[in-house]
Amino acid sequence: MKISVSILTLDFANVEKTFVPIAKDVDYIHMDIMDAEFVPNISFGYSVVGALRKLTNKPFDTHLMMMHPQNYIEQFVKAGSQYITFHVEADCDVMETIKLIKSFGIKAGISIKPKTSVEEIEKYLPYVDMVLVMSVEPGFGGQKFMESAIDKTKKLKELKEKNGYNYLINIDGGINGNTAPLISKYVDLAVSGSYICNADNPKERIEVLKNL
Ligand code: DX5
Ligand code: ZN
Repeated sequence: MKISVSILTLDFANVEKTFVPIAKDVDYIHMDIMDAEFVPNISFGYSVVGALRKLTNKPFDTHLMMMHPQNYIEQFVKAGSQYITFHVEADCDVMETIKLIKSFGIKAGISIKPKTSVEEIEKYLPYVDMVLVMSVEPGFGGQKFMESAIDKTKKLKELKEKNGYNYLINIDGGINGNTAPLISKYVDLAVSGSYICNADNPKERIEVLKNL
Protein backbone atom coordinates (compact mmCIF):
# COMPACT_ATOMS: atom_id res chain seq x y z
CA MET A 1 0.00 0.00 0.00
CA LYS A 2 1.37 3.40 -1.00
CA ILE A 3 0.90 6.50 1.13
CA SER A 4 -0.48 9.88 0.13
CA VAL A 5 -0.10 12.43 2.90
CA SER A 6 -2.88 14.97 3.40
CA ILE A 7 -1.25 18.21 4.50
CA LEU A 8 -4.47 19.85 5.71
CA THR A 9 -3.36 19.98 9.36
CA LEU A 10 0.30 20.72 8.64
CA ASP A 11 2.09 23.67 10.28
CA PHE A 12 2.27 25.97 7.25
CA ALA A 13 4.35 28.58 9.07
CA ASN A 14 7.37 26.34 8.79
CA VAL A 15 7.03 24.23 5.65
CA GLU A 16 10.79 23.72 5.14
CA LYS A 17 10.82 21.82 8.42
CA THR A 18 7.32 20.30 8.44
CA PHE A 19 6.52 19.58 4.79
CA VAL A 20 9.86 18.77 3.16
CA PRO A 21 10.89 15.79 5.37
CA ILE A 22 7.42 14.23 5.16
CA ALA A 23 7.37 14.68 1.38
CA LYS A 24 10.63 12.70 1.16
CA ASP A 25 9.11 9.68 2.92
CA VAL A 26 5.69 9.36 1.25
CA ASP A 27 4.64 8.31 -2.27
CA TYR A 28 2.14 11.10 -3.05
CA ILE A 29 1.11 14.44 -1.58
CA HIS A 30 -2.68 14.79 -1.16
CA MET A 31 -3.86 18.38 -1.63
CA ASP A 32 -7.29 18.97 -0.06
CA ILE A 33 -9.03 21.85 -1.80
CA MET A 34 -12.24 23.19 -0.22
CA ASP A 35 -14.53 25.89 -1.52
CA ALA A 36 -16.87 26.62 1.44
CA GLU A 37 -19.77 25.45 -0.73
CA PHE A 38 -19.33 21.72 -1.43
CA VAL A 39 -18.02 21.44 2.14
CA PRO A 40 -18.45 23.88 5.06
CA ASN A 41 -14.77 24.78 5.22
CA ILE A 42 -11.99 26.57 3.31
CA SER A 43 -8.47 25.18 2.94
CA PHE A 44 -5.99 26.59 0.44
CA GLY A 45 -5.87 27.14 -3.31
CA TYR A 46 -3.64 26.78 -6.34
CA SER A 47 -1.13 29.43 -5.29
CA VAL A 48 -0.22 27.35 -2.23
CA VAL A 49 -0.12 24.15 -4.31
CA GLY A 50 2.19 25.89 -6.80
CA ALA A 51 4.48 27.12 -4.02
CA LEU A 52 4.78 23.63 -2.51
CA ARG A 53 5.54 22.25 -5.98
CA LYS A 54 8.94 23.94 -5.75
CA LEU A 55 9.82 21.96 -2.61
CA THR A 56 9.29 18.36 -3.79
CA ASN A 57 9.20 16.19 -6.89
CA LYS A 58 6.61 13.78 -5.46
CA PRO A 59 3.33 13.49 -7.41
CA PHE A 60 0.50 15.74 -6.24
CA ASP A 61 -2.80 13.91 -5.73
CA THR A 62 -5.18 16.88 -5.70
CA HIS A 63 -8.63 16.32 -4.14
CA LEU A 64 -11.17 18.94 -5.18
CA MET A 65 -13.98 19.24 -2.65
CA MET A 66 -15.62 21.88 -4.80
CA MET A 67 -19.13 22.39 -6.13
CA HIS A 68 -17.84 23.48 -9.56
CA PRO A 69 -14.54 21.63 -10.08
CA GLN A 70 -14.77 21.95 -13.87
CA ASN A 71 -13.99 25.68 -13.63
CA TYR A 72 -10.65 25.25 -11.83
CA ILE A 73 -8.98 22.25 -13.46
CA GLU A 74 -6.52 24.26 -15.54
CA GLN A 75 -5.27 26.23 -12.51
CA PHE A 76 -4.57 23.05 -10.54
CA VAL A 77 -2.81 21.48 -13.54
CA LYS A 78 -0.61 24.57 -13.85
CA ALA A 79 0.10 24.44 -10.10
CA GLY A 80 1.68 21.01 -10.67
CA SER A 81 -0.94 18.28 -10.04
CA GLN A 82 -0.37 14.80 -11.48
CA TYR A 83 -3.77 13.48 -10.36
CA ILE A 84 -6.91 15.58 -10.03
CA THR A 85 -9.87 13.97 -8.28
CA PHE A 86 -13.32 15.54 -8.03
CA HIS A 87 -16.61 14.47 -6.46
CA VAL A 88 -19.38 12.82 -8.47
CA GLU A 89 -21.80 14.64 -6.10
CA ALA A 90 -20.56 18.02 -7.41
CA ASP A 91 -22.52 20.21 -9.83
CA CYS A 92 -20.73 19.16 -13.02
CA ASP A 93 -20.97 16.75 -15.93
CA VAL A 94 -18.86 13.85 -14.61
CA MET A 95 -17.81 12.44 -17.99
CA GLU A 96 -16.95 15.89 -19.39
CA THR A 97 -14.90 16.73 -16.30
CA ILE A 98 -12.95 13.44 -16.57
CA LYS A 99 -12.23 14.29 -20.23
CA LEU A 100 -11.21 17.83 -19.34
CA ILE A 101 -8.68 16.64 -16.73
CA LYS A 102 -7.23 14.10 -19.16
CA SER A 103 -7.01 16.70 -21.93
CA PHE A 104 -4.13 18.26 -19.96
CA GLY A 105 -2.21 14.98 -20.06
CA ILE A 106 -2.68 14.19 -16.35
CA LYS A 107 -4.62 11.49 -14.47
CA ALA A 108 -8.30 11.85 -13.57
CA GLY A 109 -9.97 10.56 -10.41
CA ILE A 110 -13.50 10.49 -9.03
CA SER A 111 -14.45 10.48 -5.37
CA ILE A 112 -17.53 9.33 -3.46
CA LYS A 113 -18.83 10.65 -0.13
CA PRO A 114 -19.85 8.15 2.57
CA LYS A 115 -23.50 8.07 1.44
CA THR A 116 -22.71 7.41 -2.25
CA SER A 117 -22.49 3.77 -3.35
CA VAL A 118 -20.05 2.13 -5.76
CA GLU A 119 -23.02 1.17 -7.97
CA GLU A 120 -23.66 4.87 -8.60
CA ILE A 121 -20.22 5.31 -10.22
CA GLU A 122 -19.90 1.98 -12.04
CA LYS A 123 -20.48 3.57 -15.43
CA TYR A 124 -17.46 5.86 -15.02
CA LEU A 125 -15.00 3.19 -13.87
CA PRO A 126 -13.61 2.31 -17.34
CA TYR A 127 -12.55 5.95 -17.83
CA VAL A 128 -10.83 6.94 -14.58
CA ASP A 129 -7.29 6.58 -13.25
CA MET A 130 -8.22 6.78 -9.57
CA VAL A 131 -11.26 6.18 -7.36
CA LEU A 132 -11.16 7.89 -3.98
CA VAL A 133 -13.46 6.44 -1.33
CA MET A 134 -14.20 8.88 1.48
CA SER A 135 -14.14 7.22 4.89
CA VAL A 136 -15.24 10.46 6.63
CA GLU A 137 -17.62 13.23 5.58
CA PRO A 138 -15.36 15.55 3.56
CA GLY A 139 -14.54 18.92 5.09
CA PHE A 140 -12.25 18.39 8.06
CA GLY A 141 -9.13 16.49 9.06
CA GLY A 142 -8.88 14.40 12.21
CA GLN A 143 -12.29 12.67 12.02
CA LYS A 144 -13.11 9.06 12.89
CA PHE A 145 -12.83 6.36 10.20
CA MET A 146 -16.22 5.07 8.95
CA GLU A 147 -16.18 1.29 8.51
CA SER A 148 -18.81 1.47 5.75
CA ALA A 149 -15.93 2.42 3.42
CA ILE A 150 -14.28 -1.02 3.74
CA ASP A 151 -16.85 -2.86 1.59
CA LYS A 152 -16.63 -0.14 -1.07
CA THR A 153 -12.87 -0.66 -1.48
CA LYS A 154 -13.44 -4.42 -1.65
CA LYS A 155 -16.12 -4.00 -4.31
CA LEU A 156 -13.89 -1.64 -6.33
CA LYS A 157 -11.08 -4.20 -6.25
CA GLU A 158 -13.43 -6.96 -7.44
CA LEU A 159 -14.73 -4.81 -10.31
CA LYS A 160 -11.20 -3.77 -11.25
CA GLU A 161 -9.98 -7.37 -11.42
CA LYS A 162 -13.08 -8.71 -13.16
CA ASN A 163 -13.10 -6.05 -15.88
CA GLY A 164 -9.39 -5.29 -16.21
CA TYR A 165 -9.83 -1.64 -15.23
CA ASN A 166 -6.80 0.54 -14.57
CA TYR A 167 -7.81 2.83 -11.71
CA LEU A 168 -5.92 3.09 -8.44
CA ILE A 169 -8.12 2.50 -5.39
CA ASN A 170 -7.57 5.19 -2.78
CA ILE A 171 -9.23 5.85 0.58
CA ASP A 172 -9.37 9.11 2.52
CA GLY A 173 -10.25 9.94 6.11
CA GLY A 174 -9.30 8.63 9.54
CA ILE A 175 -6.47 6.38 8.30
CA ASN A 176 -4.02 5.47 11.07
CA GLY A 177 -2.14 2.43 12.41
CA ASN A 178 -5.38 0.85 13.65
CA THR A 179 -7.66 1.50 10.67
CA ALA A 180 -5.20 0.97 7.80
CA PRO A 181 -5.04 -2.84 8.33
CA LEU A 182 -8.81 -2.96 7.65
CA ILE A 183 -8.33 -1.75 4.06
CA SER A 184 -4.68 -2.41 3.14
CA LYS A 185 -5.46 -5.54 1.13
CA TYR A 186 -8.03 -3.76 -1.04
CA VAL A 187 -6.48 -0.36 -1.78
CA ASP A 188 -3.47 0.68 -3.86
CA LEU A 189 -2.85 3.76 -1.77
CA ALA A 190 -4.29 5.46 1.29
CA VAL A 191 -4.49 9.09 2.31
CA SER A 192 -3.38 9.86 5.84
CA GLY A 193 -3.35 13.33 7.33
CA SER A 194 -3.35 14.08 11.04
CA TYR A 195 -1.88 10.67 11.96
CA ILE A 196 1.29 11.67 10.08
CA CYS A 197 1.36 15.47 10.19
CA ASN A 198 0.47 15.89 13.85
CA ALA A 199 2.90 13.23 15.11
CA ASP A 200 6.14 13.94 16.97
CA ASN A 201 7.81 11.47 14.62
CA PRO A 202 6.03 11.47 11.24
CA LYS A 203 8.63 9.15 9.69
CA GLU A 204 7.84 6.38 12.17
CA ARG A 205 4.12 6.60 11.38
CA ILE A 206 4.70 6.55 7.62
CA GLU A 207 6.74 3.36 8.16
CA VAL A 208 3.88 1.80 10.17
CA LEU A 209 1.49 2.39 7.25
CA LYS A 210 3.95 1.35 4.54
CA ASN A 211 4.83 -1.92 6.23
CA LEU A 212 1.29 -3.28 6.44
C1 DX5 B 1 -11.27 15.39 4.50
C2 DX5 B 1 -10.06 15.40 3.61
C3 DX5 B 1 -8.89 14.58 4.05
C4 DX5 B 1 -8.68 14.22 5.43
C5 DX5 B 1 -7.46 13.43 5.80
O1 DX5 B 1 -12.11 16.39 4.09
O2 DX5 B 1 -10.42 15.05 2.30
O3 DX5 B 1 -7.99 14.21 3.07
O4 DX5 B 1 -8.82 15.34 6.22
O5 DX5 B 1 -7.09 13.71 7.09
P1 DX5 B 1 -7.18 12.66 8.30
O6 DX5 B 1 -6.21 11.55 7.94
O7 DX5 B 1 -6.77 13.45 9.48
O8 DX5 B 1 -8.58 12.17 8.37
ZN1 ZN C 1 -8.83 14.48 0.87
